[in-house]
Amino acid sequence: MTHVTELGYVGLGVKDLAAWERFAAEIVGLEVVAGETPASRFLRLDTWHHRIILEEDGTDDLSFLGLRVAGVLEFRAMHDKLRDAGIAVRMGHFEEAAARHVLEVMSLEDPSGIPLEIFHGPHVQPDKPFYPGRRMHGRFKTGDGGLGHLMMRQTAGLEATHAFYSLLGMRGSIEYRIPVPNLPRPFDLMFMHCNSRDHTIAFGAPGKKRINHLMFEFDCFDDVGLSHEIVQRNKVPVGIAPGRHANDEMYSFYFMNPSNWMIELGWGARPATHQSEYYQRDTYGHEAQSGVVNANMEPVTKAAE
Ligand SMILES: [Fe+2]
Repeated sequence: MTHVTELGYVGLGVKDLAAWERFAAEIVGLEVVAGETPASRFLRLDTWHHRIILEEDGTDDLSFLGLRVAGVLEFRAMHDKLRDAGIAVRMGHFEEAAARHVLEVMSLEDPSGIPLEIFHGPHVQPDKPFYPGRRMHGRFKTGDGGLGHLMMRQTAGLEATHAFYSLLGMRGSIEYRIPVPNLPRPFDLMFMHCNSRDHTIAFGAPGKKRINHLMFEFDCFDDVGLSHEIVQRNKVPVGIAPGRHANDEMYSFYFMNPSNWMIELGWGARPATHQSEYYQRDTYGHEAQSGVVNANMEPVTKAAE
């Protein structure tokens, strides 16, 4: 079956490009590369030409995400499958693919109006090894797991969202069903995967922005500790304290970026299990730092991914 294989890239709209450039390099450790206009930058975290496009457009939100398919045959088959399902999908021009540094790209929206791109053939630069923006013990873990994962807003409902991303070939389910005192229904968070990474996209966290958080995984535990120290030294607000998730078993913490949504940095995730199960809370830790999260976004429950 034709299916997407990884989260290849994301586009982020920002208000303060200079602040983001410093944050990406000095806090997170990403490599900053000149963009195609003075108001844009590419961010690298492996040998791909880029994994993130920053554009100074004032939105401080997710602009689009790029999901990969294996090759040209899968790209054509995915286009036909989406069209036959009645989804509005548009094949990109050569110039649009060139701007993304991929061979071919098509664009569409998910049921909640999040702009998606499906592509094949990213520009990979083995001649240009990743050069971190600050010291690191190891490297970012990408490989067949893609650049990481993100939690997005959904307004179409979890059922419709699940049906749409299932059509793209993802699998997943509600993985946190959290009892809320005095409310008749528990609070649900849904996670979907398309490769060895436990989840590539997730839904359910409250918030006004399209994106709640973007996660990068380290291949070395000490990079989580070093990053936490750098975040604290630079007085970057921590949104969710260090802890271990019940679903992907990742040890991680979350902090605010200059656009007032969160970056999660973690280590030690297990591979996707391919069978559904749910949790009511995390293994340990991950306390929401209410003064930070409430001030900038919306309340996030303790076990929120
Ligand atoms: Fe996460």
